[in-house]
Amino acid sequence: MIHGSIRIICSGSPTILMRIRCVFMKTAALLDKKTLGVYRSWFNGFVKSFYSSDKEIHRNIVLKEKHTQNVCSEIKDIGASLDLNTEKLVLAEIIALFHDIGRFEQYKKYRTFSDQRSEDHALLGIKVLEKESILEGLDQSHKDLIYWVISCHNMVKIPETADPEYMFFSRLLRDADKLDILNIVTHYYKNREAVNNNALVHNLPDTPVISDSVKACVLAREYVRFDDLKTLNDYKLLQMSWVFDINFPRTFEVIKERHYLEKIRDVLNLGSEQEEAYAVVRAFLEERLKCINS
Ligand SMILES: [Fe+2]
Repeated sequence: MIHGSIRIICSGSPTILMRIRCVFMKTAALLDKKTLGVYRSWFNGFVKSFYSSDKEIHRNIVLKEKHTQNVCSEIKDIGASLDLNTEKLVLAEIIALFHDIGRFEQYKKYRTFSDQRSEDHALLGIKVLEKESILEGLDQSHKDLIYWVISCHNMVKIPETADPEYMFFSRLLRDADKLDILNIVTHYYKNREAVNNNALVHNLPDTPVISDSVKACVLAREYVRFDDLKTLNDYKLLQMSWVFDINFPRTFEVIKERHYLEKIRDVLNLGSEQEEAYAVVRAFLEERLKCINS
């Protein structure tokens, strides 16, 4: 909201300076680059308040800070591929910027990124945004949309809603979020010997097995549920199964271009089972790409 002041100059008489406090004139902040800049600055300051001299804490705060920056880049890229206008691109980036704002409090309080072992980070994020009143200047309809999309970004499925805009931005965020998590985990799996970080893989044991329910999900081309995870291999298969929950052509293209499915397959230690799982997700990806290009 803007509380403006107006300067009135009357001719034929000494300049009369009237400052009229326009307390009744409320103008919602525009969805433009300026508003986005204000939010980015706030985000940077907010995250810095969680920096710590404890290496482990600091590393995980920076991890989520970088993740947020990357999700902002991914969402812009997907949005651009859909020819979104500036207002929609800004709205998408605001959603990406704040989608994991609850992660910082979560890690500070519980030392984990596991919602199961702490609390739902999406709902925690809404509490943070409300407490900080950061979105107060926005139009109520935009604020409602942002809160809704953030609140369900970590659900297994997007809840049914009649509003196509809510669904659209929800799908956009989920695709962008997945792309960067795939980036983080594939990098981590490759370099895990050097930089072990149990918080990133939810302390799951690295045993050479997969759970039957997880394997059944992948073979049925279904999205694996977090509650079914028992091993690190289960978690890797869950990430492979994200391909079944991708929404936009650009996201499928990026998954292929960056070889995310192959990178996960190569770090599974399951023998023939890993090829079987990989074949299913890869076939699904190819089918989708064929549909896009036909
Ligand atoms: Fe995220």
